[in-house]
Amino acid sequence: MPTTTDKDTASLQAAREVIEQIKKKPQSCLGLPTGRTPQALYRHLIAIAREENVDITGVRFFGLDEYIDVRQESAFKTYLDKVIYQPLAIDQENCFSPIMIDDYDALIKRQGGLDLTILGIGGNGHIAFNEPGTPEYSWTHCVTLDESTRRANQEFFARPEDVPRRAVTMGIQTILDSRKIILLAFSKSKISILKRAFNGCVEGAVPASFLTKHPNLEIYTDFEFTWLK
Ligand code: GLP
Repeated sequence: MPTTTDKDTASLQAAREVIEQIKKKPQSCLGLPTGRTPQALYRHLIAIAREENVDITGVRFFGLDEYIDVRQESAFKTYLDKVIYQPLAIDQENCFSPIMIDDYDALIKRQGGLDLTILGIGGNGHIAFNEPGTPEYSWTHCVTLDESTRRANQEFFARPEDVPRRAVTMGIQTILDSRKIILLAFSKSKISILKRAFNGCVEGAVPASFLTKHPNLEIYTDFEFTWLK
């Protein structure tokens, strides 16, 4: 069942789940999102890891996606360096991005597969950068970003025209192969797309709807919504 509470409490609960995964399996492989949604989760994750002296030296971190031809200051890898890798002094050898290797899915498989992947949701229902129309059985691939996605992300760039048009993203199957998924959706702007994704209709037009097929999905929101199965 979805957990509905205020954004900070939800982020704390989700961070606690990540910590429990790491304590249970110190060699965990985690799929990490970027954007506004997970920022509070990362803050709580850092605080708990420090307070409880959690050993994260064996954890491997996999960015969900990355822009192509992006200035370093706006790259998702730079975002993750700032919000989690550097604060926790994570060894860069344990930090992976889909743009750094030809076969990201083979790398993930060699590392044992994703244990826990954290997701946000784009305004058009994308997960990672899997835009509407992405096949369910898709692996890591290059994508041309929808204009709505470019607009939604332009606050992270100096000028709108600086937002890249292309990116590399984990595919939908890459994500669904994760043994557990936590989906975070906060603010009124995500209500309608989340309701559409979980209205009982699994459709390529709303990539997040494929998540309903996952056996171990947890959803955290700061608004009421009913998952229609
Ligand atoms: C981008 C990212 C997604 C993220 C989405 C929502 O498209 N590729 O991983 O979930 O934006 O971002 P925000 O959380 O800022 O709304």
